[in-house]
Amino acid sequence: MSTRRRASGAGRRKADKPKPPASRTAPKSKKRSGQRRAGRAISRRAAGGPAPKARADSSTSAGPAPKARPRLRIDILTLFPGIFESVFKHSLLGKAAARGLIEVGIHDIREHAEGRHKVADDAPYGGGDGMVMKPGPVVRAIEKARGEVGWVILTTPAGALLTQARARALSAREHLVIVCGRYGGVDERVSQIAVDEEISIGDYVLGGGEPAAIVLVDAIARLVPGVVGNAESTIEDSFEAGLLEYPQYTRPASFRGLDVPAVLLAGHHGDVSRWRREEALRRTRERRPELLDKETAADLRRASKKKETP
Ligand code: ADE
Repeated sequence: MSTRRRASGAGRRKADKPKPPASRTAPKSKKRSGQRRAGRAISRRAAGGPAPKARADSSTSAGPAPKARPRLRIDILTLFPGIFESVFKHSLLGKAAARGLIEVGIHDIREHAEGRHKVADDAPYGGGDGMVMKPGPVVRAIEKARGEVGWVILTTPAGALLTQARARALSAREHLVIVCGRYGGVDERVSQIAVDEEISIGDYVLGGGEPAAIVLVDAIARLVPGVVGNAESTIEDSFEAGLLEYPQYTRPASFRGLDVPAVLLAGHHGDVSRWRREEALRRTRERRPELLDKETAADLRRASKKKETP
């Protein structure tokens, strides 16, 4: 995963590689509550939670204060804040926000642009298509949002590919700031000065970094302890063991002539586990052979040999 070194003197820390979770390395921010007030947090109500009581500051996450501070705070910096409202309201993240596990703030980068017209982008030096996001508004938005322990991520097709392992590592952090790239890109000095890590969600180009931020937040949020009811279910996900997930079935046992594999109906726990492992290996070999490392490839050979010799 590529990480960026902030310009010497200008950045808060050197970041050749992702730091271990901030909660283990950095002191707790004393400005935390002020920092929370900085953004337009998705309210508990918007997230499907109880109606908020009137508060003096409408920019904080509304509703009765959660008993404990959220495990993870995510601030998203974008030129299109409206994109996120309904997506998060109707997702797992909405429920996590309602339960006080995760707190999300959406911030409009344009608020940090100068002049009457609040221009946040400009033509690229050297020519070319598209507009480039100006460094000033983006860096100012980051500096306002990141507080003391915020880990700053830029979504860009030029970033390192998001993996399940990276999502898990990010889910252990205390505060993430996600900057959505847009147009023809973001002025490179933003990364040099204020970004810790650049992430791409796949080898294709989106119109902007907002859908990538949604994917990133979803992948991270479900790994925060307590967000997904049964922790086992995230451990068994595709990619957690370096394999694609085995096939799943539910009732009815027979559907349009296709039967659920007998092993799943027999109720023998050991047999079910073995079958799932073999199916996960088979699928991975067929669909994503590059995921199989030497160890799993050897496992796979052993499993298919066993099948051949009755
Ligand atoms: N912005 C445009 N395309 C992207 C991608 N594939 N990943 C992250 N951000 C992007």
